[in-house]
Amino acid sequence: MPQHLSLLRSLAAGVVAGLTMLAGDAAAQPHSAAPTWSKDVAPILYRNCTVCHRKGGMGPMPLVTYDDARRSAGEMRDAIGTGYMPPWHADAPHGTFSNDRRLADAEKNTVLAWIDGGTPEGNPADAPAAPVYPSSWQLGTPDAVLKMPEPFEVPAKGTIEYQYIEIPTNFTEDKWVQAIEMLPGAREVVHHVIVYARPPAPPAGAAPPPAAAPGAPRTPPLMFFNEAHLAQQEPRDPNRPQRRTGPMIAGMAPGTEIQYFPAGTALKVPAGAVLTLQMHYTAHGHAMKDQTQIGFKFADGPPAEEIRAGTFVNNAFVLPAGKADVEVPSEVGFRREVKIWGILPHTHLRGKKWEYRVVYPDGRTESILSVPKYDFNWQTYYMFAKPVVLPAGAKIEARAWYDNSAANPANPDPKIDVRWGDQTWEEMQFTAFLYTIGRP
Ligand code: HEC
Repeated sequence: MPQHLSLLRSLAAGVVAGLTMLAGDAAAQPHSAAPTWSKDVAPILYRNCTVCHRKGGMGPMPLVTYDDARRSAGEMRDAIGTGYMPPWHADAPHGTFSNDRRLADAEKNTVLAWIDGGTPEGNPADAPAAPVYPSSWQLGTPDAVLKMPEPFEVPAKGTIEYQYIEIPTNFTEDKWVQAIEMLPGAREVVHHVIVYARPPAPPAGAAPPPAAAPGAPRTPPLMFFNEAHLAQQEPRDPNRPQRRTGPMIAGMAPGTEIQYFPAGTALKVPAGAVLTLQMHYTAHGHAMKDQTQIGFKFADGPPAEEIRAGTFVNNAFVLPAGKADVEVPSEVGFRREVKIWGILPHTHLRGKKWEYRVVYPDGRTESILSVPKYDFNWQTYYMFAKPVVLPAGAKIEARAWYDNSAANPANPDPKIDVRWGDQTWEEMQFTAFLYTIGRP
């Protein structure tokens, strides 16, 4: 916008703000009545946006300087006004999740008022220093770094099948992990990474685990599932290799490169474990090579509580061709007290919504996570600010909804019935969760 116009608009905004104050609404104003970039907006963008919107970040444009912000003001108005940005898809109040990216209402109102007021710069001397982002590891120097053994060549265009890449840890002792970071070699083409850790196979010829003494009570497994949700015989494509990946330990998409385990907890990666990276690459117009690295921060010693990674699924569903609103349930129950620290819902391109509720042994229910607009592009671990404590006998019921109709623009093919499978044109009803085990 030409300088004089923006001046006019800010003057007008000043008049409006003055009138509003006369009307006695001053308390409702989020900040100074006519917010400026230097004083009011830059701190908000630096706290909430520039981690992605900077040179080399994943956002499509930088929002670091006054000119950056002014240039994108129109788009910012829409993106912030609709809640599209910052990206966050659960609808619980602020404070429920420790990694919530959303703006507080006051911050949102300040940015919108600044845009409506003609994007005044204010006094540049009031602006905070632009944040400095490390060009390499964000969690500091990792205690261990594991790198894909070979670079992967990402073609210039076309769809790229998921790559499953194994990396032996060569850890000679069990490690207690406090944080895991992925560092893509070519950020532009790495859409997401899922990290699994498989304990080593027992050495060939090793003695089988000792059989329980006859008559000794058997400890039942911690978790129980609903058999109706589990395919007795998973349909297998004989041409597809069987993968044994072990449990998923971190799910990371651009913008959420670090998986932190909450204070007082740590995750054990056993000696000799092998990592499998599920790499989702997207072509970027020219051929590129990627060699992603995984960095670990270790805890000083065993934590107060061992965090574990669990999953539960429904792999027995069919999404009929063309159907817009198919609900698929799944559940997991616990025979001992557990604390749930985080939940990651996962479907592919037809998934549109998720809900999770706890059913307590006395029949009471409580909603713990609702994702009204699930977006496959963001693989988010929703980390509870306070873990959800489930007494023995409680269960988590999950429901996912799918749109297999032509009205879903992401649908790869509305004309086929869709079942469980690991390709994006197949579907999943998959939940990963982080938990600790409570009192017996
Ligand atoms: C976690 C990373 C991340 C954060 C944090 C983030 N963005 Fe974005 N933003 C993106 C990505 C990726 C895109 C492009 C893909 C898309 O549109 O979903 C985008 C797109 C946008 C767009 C363009 C939308 C359009 O019209 O296509 C705007 C405007 C925007 N962001 C503003 C913001 C603002 C303002 C903030 C902070 C209040 C913010 N973003 C925080 C990652 C982020």
